Amino acid sequence: MKNDDPSATKERDAAGLADAPAKRVLFVDADQKVLDSLKKRLESLHTEWVMAFSNAGQEALEKLAASQFDVLVTRADVAIAGGSDLLTEVLQRFPDVVRIVLTDTVEQDVVRSSTAHQYLVQSCNAATLKSTLDRALQIRGMLAHPGLRALVSRIISLPSLPAVHTQLIASLDNPELSSRELGDIIAQDVAMTAKILQIANSAFFGLYRYVASPAEAAVYLGVDTIRALALSTGAFSALQTSGLAQSLISQLQHHSTTTGLVAAAIGKAENLPKKACDSAMVGGLLHDVGKLVLAANCPQEYEVVLNTVKKDGVPCYEVERQMFGATHADIGAYLLYLWALPDLVCKAVAFHHSPADYSTTTFTAAAAIHAADALEHELTGVSDFSGRVTIDMNYCTLLGLAGRVPEWRRLCKKQIDKEEEA
Ligand SMILES: [Fe+2]
Ligand SMILES: [Fe+2]
Repeated sequence: MKNDDPSATKERDAAGLADAPAKRVLFVDADQKVLDSLKKRLESLHTEWVMAFSNAGQEALEKLAASQFDVLVTRADVAIAGGSDLLTEVLQRFPDVVRIVLTDTVEQDVVRSSTAHQYLVQSCNAATLKSTLDRALQIRGMLAHPGLRALVSRIISLPSLPAVHTQLIASLDNPELSSRELGDIIAQDVAMTAKILQIANSAFFGLYRYVASPAEAAVYLGVDTIRALALSTGAFSALQTSGLAQSLISQLQHHSTTTGLVAAAIGKAENLPKKACDSAMVGGLLHDVGKLVLAANCPQEYEVVLNTVKKDGVPCYEVERQMFGATHADIGAYLLYLWALPDLVCKAVAFHHSPADYSTTTFTAAAAIHAADALEHELTGVSDFSGRVTIDMNYCTLLGLAGRVPEWRRLCKKQIDKEEEA
């Protein structure tokens, strides 16, 4: 079962897949028995995917250089001649390959391989293995621009507000700290929330449901793992520079927290199921994470975007589309897909400016975030980083919910008043 296996090619022809570009996965493990077990578990998929196997880091790099792979599944500690390791080399040389670490030592590997996008327990069942890989193989098609894909794929962590980062580090010295208290600190920060949900949702924890909040994630991971992540890896990082990213993060933090809480309240008022309300809450907190990606990684270009937004009063996603060929919603959702956050959350982020493109028949978490986002801007009057964002009333009318907007506005006002009183 190699990538040039003629029998697989014949079977792909017979299955009518000959013209479809094959999705390619490379598995790397020094232990041949592990590779043999993977081959066996994935045997039925060799007509759908091209799979290659390697038991050495150098050989794996040669395979990656010789043909394009979508996903790399590897051990955390595969060495390369010269002192480097496979994951670091792949991050630098083939950044848009999805990097999945195959692991059986939870705490060690999360801490040891923070350059991974996702983690997968080596002994997971065939269904988990297939669904994790299937999802990873779809990701490349979600962002068309190769340069942006590479930029997002290189991200290991996003910058946090220095004050929250300091609070996190200080709290970790407290032996009495509970997971819940830790979750509350992390929930104040967009970057830390995204990172902790990435790790907690990794399939290798063997959970049968998604972890949808920082508090839940902190309970699952435990204080010790989070302490190790915070102190010995680049998983959480404080913003080092002032200027654009600093002022954007401060504004974004407050706007994002309120949007998450209001989106969940709107979801509840419209009788969305609990899972969708949870997705509205965490999706609301993360809805503008793409702005953080752009401001931290392309500060000069993003400054031009924001100056245009201020000058012309147009929504920032329109200027972003002209400037980058994608919006902060596209870029944020791509990062969250790559980090294996729940699909509902990723979709809510992807469609928060265009909920009608997601569903024209049902009120969704994306629609709740769309409304909460616009109402927060309307009621606070703060729009330096977003431009003119308004509720899509045609969409609300289409769903028969135009009459509910005053109630949503009341819920948003209530939340803003509560925050001002605190
Ligand atoms: Fe947005
Ligand atoms: Fe927003």
